Amino acid sequence: MKQQERFNAIAAPLLAWYDNNKRDLPWRQQVSAYHTWVSEIMLQQTRVAAVIPYYQRFFAAFPTVEDLAQADEQQLLKLWEGLGYYSRARNLHKAAKLIAQRGSFPESYEEILALPGIGEYTAGAIASIAFGRKVSAVDGNVLRIAARLGGYDDNVLDPKFRRRIQLMLDEAVCADRPGAFNQALMDLGATVCLPSGTPLCDSCPLRQLCLAYEQGRQKELPVRISKTKKRTEELTVFLLLQDGRAALRQRDDRGLLASLWEYPHVSGMLDESAAATQLSAWGLIPHRWVKRLQFHHIFTHIRWEMTGYVVEVSGSGEADWLWADGAERSLRPVPSAFEKLTQELKE
Ligand code: ADE
Repeated sequence: MKQQERFNAIAAPLLAWYDNNKRDLPWRQQVSAYHTWVSEIMLQQTRVAAVIPYYQRFFAAFPTVEDLAQADEQQLLKLWEGLGYYSRARNLHKAAKLIAQRGSFPESYEEILALPGIGEYTAGAIASIAFGRKVSAVDGNVLRIAARLGGYDDNVLDPKFRRRIQLMLDEAVCADRPGAFNQALMDLGATVCLPSGTPLCDSCPLRQLCLAYEQGRQKELPVRISKTKKRTEELTVFLLLQDGRAALRQRDDRGLLASLWEYPHVSGMLDESAAATQLSAWGLIPHRWVKRLQFHHIFTHIRWEMTGYVVEVSGSGEADWLWADGAERSLRPVPSAFEKLTQELKE
């Protein structure tokens, strides 16, 4: 069987399976370009269960794309707090302004792809789900299914492989129900064709067509070889407490975690005596060293290895710090990289 024929043959069994097994998800209840767009952006690199509460809060706050266009950026980032990859929220905001300006959501794959923050996967998902266009939407889950289906031992992280699969799936997408076809693959990837060696082949509607299954190689595929190596940065982060307030400062408006709020920190892993020296450099006097913590956070290209100190202090610190009480704090987005310290604040 030719590979393209194999891919073309999946639509019928896949859609029959989807009609009986599709997940009941909030963005499937009310389908519009705006709803599909926001859900697909939130779902990038993020699990469905984590997205649902954010999705609901988002539409309560910004029911229309015009509401989003007019939103205050800090309010939007606060709503996004904990979801990660904050550039997604900033790009949503930028794109909403463009859409509000032009008066309607663009409908073709190419025009959707031209919006800020939208790559080939997301453009394919919106064009097919919201506008019924016959195009595929290839993310990591779909690549895993495709690698197994076609028995490919190519590296699925290689853009050339992705391109090849995208072209085959563009042809294989069911012209009558392209959105259902793409979402069926997403559900199959999330519930049956599972990663890390545990696919549930007995429940798979594509088993008869799957070359990896035929060859008993479904646990060996896909092959994933990443070329980018994460660099590690060491930080010492201070949760500085004074009269029920904690020191926050705003990050630069460019780069990683731009314009979010954070606890004061310096680079390097400071022991207690070096940490005390740092406090006095900030003009602070420590009164009680409450706790020392060790934690880390992984971004796409960087790993932060952090030492945290919780310290009660007096003094005012740097001029641009904000000594925030609970109410002020609740207005400001603090990234989950610092969640370990934020937890201390709640205790
Ligand atoms: N993951 C990404 N997009 C999705 C969608 N529309 N439904 C379910 N899971 C998804």
